Amino acid sequence: MKVVVDGIPLDLPAGTSGIDAVFAAGRDVPYFCAHSYLSPVGACRMCLVESGSPRKGKDGNFELDESGQPKIFWFPKPMAACTMQATDGMHIRTAKTSDVVAKAQAGMMEFTLLNHPLDCPTCDKGGACELQDRAFEYGYGASRFGFDRRHADKHYPLSDFVILDQERCIHCKRCVRYFEEVPGQEVLDFIERGGHTFIDTEEGGLPTGFQGNITDICPVGALLDNVARFRGRNWEYDHTPTTCTLCPVGCSITADARNGRLERVVARENREVNEVWICDAGRFGHVFASEDRLTVPLVRVDGELRPSDWDGAILAIRRGLTGMNPADLALYLNADSTLEEGAALETLAGLTDTPSVDHWPRYAANVETTATLTDVATADAVIVLGADLGEEAPVLELRVLEMLRGGILPPEFPHGTAIADLRLVERPTRHPERLAVIGGESRLSAHAGMRVSANGHNALARLMRPDTDDLRAAAKLLAEVKKPVLILGADVLNTVTREFTAQLADLVTRTGAKVLPISAGPNSKGLAHLNLVPRAGGLGYDRLEEARAAFISRLDPATHGLPGRARGFTIVHDTHLTATARLADVVLPAVTNYEKRGTTVNLEGRLLPLRQAALSAGEGADLIRTLTALAEALGVRTRIRGLKSAQALLADRLGVDLTDLPESGVIRPLGVTFTAPALPHTPQLWKERMHANPERRGSRVPDRADRIATWQLTGQDGALPVGGDD
Ligand code: SF4
Ligand code: SF4
Ligand code: FES
Repeated sequence: MKVVVDGIPLDLPAGTSGIDAVFAAGRDVPYFCAHSYLSPVGACRMCLVESGSPRKGKDGNFELDESGQPKIFWFPKPMAACTMQATDGMHIRTAKTSDVVAKAQAGMMEFTLLNHPLDCPTCDKGGACELQDRAFEYGYGASRFGFDRRHADKHYPLSDFVILDQERCIHCKRCVRYFEEVPGQEVLDFIERGGHTFIDTEEGGLPTGFQGNITDICPVGALLDNVARFRGRNWEYDHTPTTCTLCPVGCSITADARNGRLERVVARENREVNEVWICDAGRFGHVFASEDRLTVPLVRVDGELRPSDWDGAILAIRRGLTGMNPADLALYLNADSTLEEGAALETLAGLTDTPSVDHWPRYAANVETTATLTDVATADAVIVLGADLGEEAPVLELRVLEMLRGGILPPEFPHGTAIADLRLVERPTRHPERLAVIGGESRLSAHAGMRVSANGHNALARLMRPDTDDLRAAAKLLAEVKKPVLILGADVLNTVTREFTAQLADLVTRTGAKVLPISAGPNSKGLAHLNLVPRAGGLGYDRLEEARAAFISRLDPATHGLPGRARGFTIVHDTHLTATARLADVVLPAVTNYEKRGTTVNLEGRLLPLRQAALSAGEGADLIRTLTALAEALGVRTRIRGLKSAQALLADRLGVDLTDLPESGVIRPLGVTFTAPALPHTPQLWKERMHANPERRGSRVPDRADRIATWQLTGQDGALPVGGDD
């Protein structure tokens, strides 16, 4: 399809929107309501362009101009480019070449700002506000309106996490469309009409799960993240692109730090993984990274843990392990540790010959992954077995919901993801008949056409031998569709048996289904590949109290009902003084995953990079440096002494250069199957320490009943004011 933008000829795929044609030409057009992952609505009218097309005459041929070229018939008024489809032969003019467009856009900007409070100096979105930027680029620079602006409620909490400033809202409808189209929750809408229109929720506020995404997409400072607002200006933050490791999805995020504190987490686009969304835990649950951190080593003296330095801690470890064989020191690490940290631990275990090595959480056996998140979104049926996606892998839930509304993935252009995808529709029809949930009830169950309660591996057995109408429908669906995906969650993976694996293999062969088992922990797939499971004669993590001595990195068995100590000497490496750390002989300060460099493997088997945000962690160290110090205390010299040596070793092993991973990561089948007894676990996304303490952070929001009692539109004293501006 040939399109000409400002005289620049382009060859574009059919169906391209006018706005994407403009961007494909390298030209610019302002926009507020258009959003790459939401339906185009043409609400803000900022993306105006002039457009014209050739026309065929009665004889069926194009009407030609004097030079013999098809004559362009220009539309009499500028059009919104986001809802307009570019057609073959179309000509488009932007503000760069058309005074009519420049004037229309400036006029539209003046109109948008008519009642805007213009509190840019105090608005927390300042420095990242699309309206501010576009007003500067496309506005008149002055307003012709001198009357008092409309006033509405400011700092109006939609929930504990999201604050609305009604005055700043420009009614672009992005937030409303987001809830309707992405998580499929009709909770937010326009109330009232005309000059009184405002956004609000039903009683009860916004549902926790994916509400935070509206703070990313609001083009003005109307919706703000209550955990982060007023904690820094956009230009004051150090923005670090990294990967969330709170669950096995591995969403791309940006960690914003200021003065050594992690103040904000926002979503970053990764078309293959999280598109542009993240869950509320990933966005709001980062406070622990900067609160109550352990910043120096602690050594037990006379029964009490006392601050020390690393030399003192190493000396205490050396003393504590006197008389023991290095092989007596069991080594346990959290499943969210990086691949590089895992390699360092494996190397040390090899040197000390300890068979007691483990990571947690993990399952007892590995089930091979054959589906990606994109396969889930574009499947024609999904069967979820024994999973609570809200707790195990929230963004996977969004990809399943994407499948239910047709699995339309946005096209990609050289300028990035399409800005307006004309195939997307508002209030999309969902197809619950494509989804079966077998297992316990979860949030996803509400969207499923077939729901069957089952537990453990019984879920698969029931699907293999259907005995209810819903099960028969699910089995039939699986047999009939072309691209089914089976998602396996903790409830089935906790009880994987040989029989289960055989049944699964049989089902996959018969139906051609792809399988996506949700890893037990954020990098348990990667650490299992490094074989960090108990070796012959070794003690697993659940048998910690039998070990003579143990080194426990960022695990807290004492709060999981396990003994928090080894039989003898216990070393804990953690970011906080946990219940387990309180029982230890030596506590070494650790860094969080926001301040690490390294690689993690998500549930698809995708290698994703972690980058180091500028947080102050005192003397906190990552596991590689800590293990180097531990090796020193044990009197051995390990060959992995830093990130570089770990990555060199892993590059040989995985055949991937980890120093140069692409932004979207790279899928690497990690085909190791292991069997080692594991401790069944119940995934729980929000941990206690992820909750913000609103009092301490000064972000406390008033009780909703109080808020409603005190809220009213200005001038609304009994009867609404009649017409005009209020
Ligand atoms: S609150 Fe923000 S996203 Fe929602 S309609 Fe208003 S300006 Fe748009
Ligand atoms: S879905 Fe998982 S990886 Fe993504 S933001 Fe939430 S917790 Fe983090
Ligand atoms: S009308 Fe809002 S971006 Fe086009």
